[in-house]
Amino acid sequence: MLTVTDLTVAFGNTVAVRDVALTAASGTVTGILGANGAGKTTTLLGILGRVPRRSGTLTFDGRDVTGDDTGALVRAGIALCPENRRLFPNMSIEDNLLLGAYGHGRKVRRERLERTYARFGWIRDRAAEPAGRLSGGQQQGVAIARALMSDPKLVLLDEPSSGLSPVAVDEIGELLAGIAAEGTAMLLVEQNVRLVRKLCSTAYVLAHGRVTASGPVDELFDDDSVSDAYLGKVV
Ligand SMILES: Nc1ncnc2c1ncn2[C@@H]1O[C@H](COP(=O)(O)OP(=O)(O)O)[C@@H](O)[C@H]1O
Ligand SMILES: [Mg+2]
Repeated sequence: MLTVTDLTVAFGNTVAVRDVALTAASGTVTGILGANGAGKTTTLLGILGRVPRRSGTLTFDGRDVTGDDTGALVRAGIALCPENRRLFPNMSIEDNLLLGAYGHGRKVRRERLERTYARFGWIRDRAAEPAGRLSGGQQQGVAIARALMSDPKLVLLDEPSSGLSPVAVDEIGELLAGIAAEGTAMLLVEQNVRLVRKLCSTAYVLAHGRVTASGPVDELFDDDSVSDAYLGKVV
């Protein structure tokens, strides 16, 4: 579905992501693990062209999309569910959702809203309320629903479990598992190892902007170097 090679992103003299290569296969959830500052968010933003790439090639859905800007990548079927949810707290939940279908006509936006409400009955019930009134877990649910409003083939998720209670993390895990089961591919950035184990077939470990380990999650978590370098501190 998505293949990235040789992705390098620098902010001035700081190289945040260096020579990253990864693949997110269709019908699967692919994990990206790493400590704070490892370059996870920058990797996602670099894929989407939201930060300038120093190098890198992108193939998506069988097409070279290296030169595509963010808008074109979204139209091609890549959606981002950003770090810290990034809802507009004073806007209604419905208006937040509609931002995910930005650029589409009225009819399409209406259809996508209806589809969202059919899936998330509780969101329909509260659609007119300001998004800031929701709990953290509910806001994450809305952020995921907003990403789905663009009808993506691949969703990039940036730490969806961050700041949530264990119960809310489980609920988000169930939601993501359901979306994956429908065939939507995901690239899941997480520090929650349990969530990665539950959802991902394959994962990459990032440290200091580089991929330091990758493979099927079962094998990855057996690898001592991975445990020592990262997981030991988190589990
Ligand atoms: N806009 C930016 N300007 C300068 N440095 C940045 C910027 N964004 C990220 N960085 C730096 O790049 C590195 C990777 O950051 P980030 O991708 O946010 O890590 P993670 O998401 O894994 O916590 C960090 O050292 C961070 O300080
Ligand atoms: Mg981050």
